[in-house]
Amino acid sequence: MAPMTSATHALLVERVEALDDAELADLCEATDAAIIEGGGFGWVEPQGREALARHFRGVLLVPAIELFVARLDGVPVGSAQLLRPPRNNEAQSFSAQLTHAYIAPYARGHGLARLLVRRVEERASALGHRVLNLDVRDTQTTAITLFEAMGYTHWGTHPAYARVRGATVSGRYYHKLLEPARGRALDIRATHNKG
Ligand SMILES: CC(C)(COP(=O)(O)OP(=O)(O)OC[C@H]1O[C@@H](n2cnc3c(N)ncnc32)[C@H](O)[C@@H]1OP(=O)(O)O)[C@@H](O)C(=O)NCCC(=O)NCCS
Repeated sequence: MAPMTSATHALLVERVEALDDAELADLCEATDAAIIEGGGFGWVEPQGREALARHFRGVLLVPAIELFVARLDGVPVGSAQLLRPPRNNEAQSFSAQLTHAYIAPYARGHGLARLLVRRVEERASALGHRVLNLDVRDTQTTAITLFEAMGYTHWGTHPAYARVRGATVSGRYYHKLLEPARGRALDIRATHNKG
């Protein structure tokens, strides 16, 4: 896919099925930088390259997870994961989850996160999912602005969502109805009271 451009930068988001050592090293550096700045990745403390490399290698092996990598001028600077429901969960097979979205602090403000979320939405829709769910700490105000600007509906708040350095943090739950890649639009009214 050809990169988009923002001013003087090339922006690219790709679903990846493999990463070479140099790409993995860049991605781990970006991830640790995001964790140090304040997270968004679940981890509170920086993990170091080896632990993060193990994480990403593991992610690439899990069939239910798809990894999307954001690149600024060709260099991996962030990622997101699309989590698909397990095969036994037929009743919720129409939905999927967007998790672990972040861009390294040194690559922010170029529009990469917006592109990252859009690519995950397009992929989820192409796979037949009609709902994308996500949740975010209440303290991640930039992400909240982004998700709400992209049409995510805040449907609930968990008062004890996370523990960060000894403090309990609340979290917001969002969903978005996806446009079908083809076929009928989802009518969520039809799902009420039908088991
Ligand atoms: C949230 C995050 C991914 C945004 O990354 P980014 O690449 O800088 O975002 P973009 O440049 O694509 O900006 C997209 C939108 O986010 C919002 N935004 C970005 N930076 C902002 C800022 N400093 N203040 C307020 N809103 C901001 C705006 O709505 C912006 O749209 P606009 O440019 O049309 O105004 C990044 O700040 C981050 O990784 N934060 C920590 C991790 C996190 O919170 N992840 C989400 C939870 S899973």
